[in-house]
Amino acid sequence: MKIGILGSGQLGRMLALSAYPLGHEMRFLALSEEDPSSLLGKTFIHNDDPNIIRSFADSSDVVTYESENTDVSIVNEISLNTGVYPSEKSLYISKHRGREKALFDKLNIPSAPYEMINTLDDLKSAVYKIGLPAILKTATNGYDGKGQFLINSESQLLEAWESMSGVESILEGFVKFKRELSLIAVRGVDGNLEYYPLVENTHYEGILRLTIAPANNINKILQKKAEDYMRLILKEINHVGVLTIELFETEDNLIVNEMAPRVHNSGHWTIEGAQTSQFENHIRAITKAPLGDTSCTNRYSAMINIIGDYGDLEKVLETKNANLHLYNKAERERRKLGHITITSNSIDELNNSLESLKDFMP
Ligand SMILES: Nc1ncnc2c1ncn2[C@@H]1O[C@H](COP(=O)(O)OP(=O)(O)OP(=O)(O)O)[C@@H](O)[C@H]1O
Ligand SMILES: [Mg+2]
Repeated sequence: MKIGILGSGQLGRMLALSAYPLGHEMRFLALSEEDPSSLLGKTFIHNDDPNIIRSFADSSDVVTYESENTDVSIVNEISLNTGVYPSEKSLYISKHRGREKALFDKLNIPSAPYEMINTLDDLKSAVYKIGLPAILKTATNGYDGKGQFLINSESQLLEAWESMSGVESILEGFVKFKRELSLIAVRGVDGNLEYYPLVENTHYEGILRLTIAPANNINKILQKKAEDYMRLILKEINHVGVLTIELFETEDNLIVNEMAPRVHNSGHWTIEGAQTSQFENHIRAITKAPLGDTSCTNRYSAMINIIGDYGDLEKVLETKNANLHLYNKAERERRKLGHITITSNSIDELNNSLESLKDFMP
């Protein structure tokens, strides 16, 4: 099939790399000819020309998107003539933290206490209700911890509100989590579902740095709880494709942080670490093909993000059981340039490889 991707980053690139072996062709609606994914297929530059989106859509049998920050109106326009998966509804809900939270509430899925904020007065009364510490986040367009302000004291309220530049925001109570987990699942057009195992994620300054897959010490009850949340969400929004939920594990509960209607950084390990990667499974779902096996190829996997500068890549290539994935991007502070996957059936071997690559972690 001819698959069109709205977006031009590393996720589109890895979707394309998994789609070619299945015989598909790719098109991209990209910002520039040099973007990470635009090199992998026919590229339509997203400029002011109103016919560009139409040409892109007309050349695609099915369209998907790589980011929840995609414009809903573009998806709406394309879907009049061409199938778009996940649908506009998945995008509409997951691009706005308030709508996402309302969905969790409706489904009785626990998440951090929150209040929507439009003014400084809203913020003051929300802090009164929720307490401190709390995190103020822009309602839309956040990623990698951008557009967030951790409020520890009431003296910071004005500064926090001003940092939002007047846009709609959400105040969330700070969750004292034991660790961060995520669950990735894929749902087909027929409603079939496959889950990957829960993984453990370590962030630094709001950016994911390390994923351990599967997470250590996950009992069946916890995995099932996460899958129950996932199933409720997928069904409610009739999602098609991959969906990710980010979770906080606390002393006595499993709390949802946010969701993403797409392949996720915490699932990059699946390229080598699972029978079918998250990317291939997304492609399978949106092309109405049978879903692939999500079980692990090795007992242990880890994924390290390469952030900001490339570092010693020779070292990665020399490390046993490590695989390198670069996104064809220029170095820039806080930018995701690539990732490393390590897989092994021995925990000692995995830890040795992690140790030899520790310079890639903060
Ligand atoms: N309510 C909270 N309580 C405690 N920590 C939080 C809370 N919200 C966010 N964080 C921390 O900040 C990180 C980034 O937050 P969040 O996932 O909401 O932002 P994002 O910018 O959308 O990130 P992403 O890169 O996942 O899209 C979380 O992974 C977590 O470490
Ligand atoms: Mg997040």
